[in-house]
Amino acid sequence: MADRRSFFKLLLSAIGLGAVIRGEAAFAAQKVAIPLAKVPALAKVGGSVTVKLKGTTVLFIRDAKESIRAVNAVCTHKQCLVGYAPKKGHIACPCHGSDFTLSGEVLSGPATEPLQTYPAKLTQDKIIITLEE
Ligand code: FES
Repeated sequence: MADRRSFFKLLLSAIGLGAVIRGEAAFAAQKVAIPLAKVPALAKVGGSVTVKLKGTTVLFIRDAKESIRAVNAVCTHKQCLVGYAPKKGHIACPCHGSDFTLSGEVLSGPATEPLQTYPAKLTQDKIIITLEE
């Protein structure tokens, strides 16, 4: 009986810890607004720019008139900075040739892990990105 009670106490502790971890993750997400005037490279469709925000290096790609993509610019292979290859329409790493979709998925290696993406939206005069700490 004591073993069963101990098991349930342990289980409840684990569930509580999980809730705390999820709560911290949600709390740590933060929105950052960037005036479009400060990133003229994104004024036109096909433009891109790499920006350091709150310790994260983010590659923004203006993929359509009303939308923008935001991915972590650090390659998942050996941490080179990736860039947008507009002629190919995808993200490319100059170091060893990995290619990624605009959604961060691996198109070709050697990288095997996707680039982290961030929710980003375009308003009339700002980019709003949600980063995780
Ligand atoms: S660091 Fe990007 S492919 Fe190797």
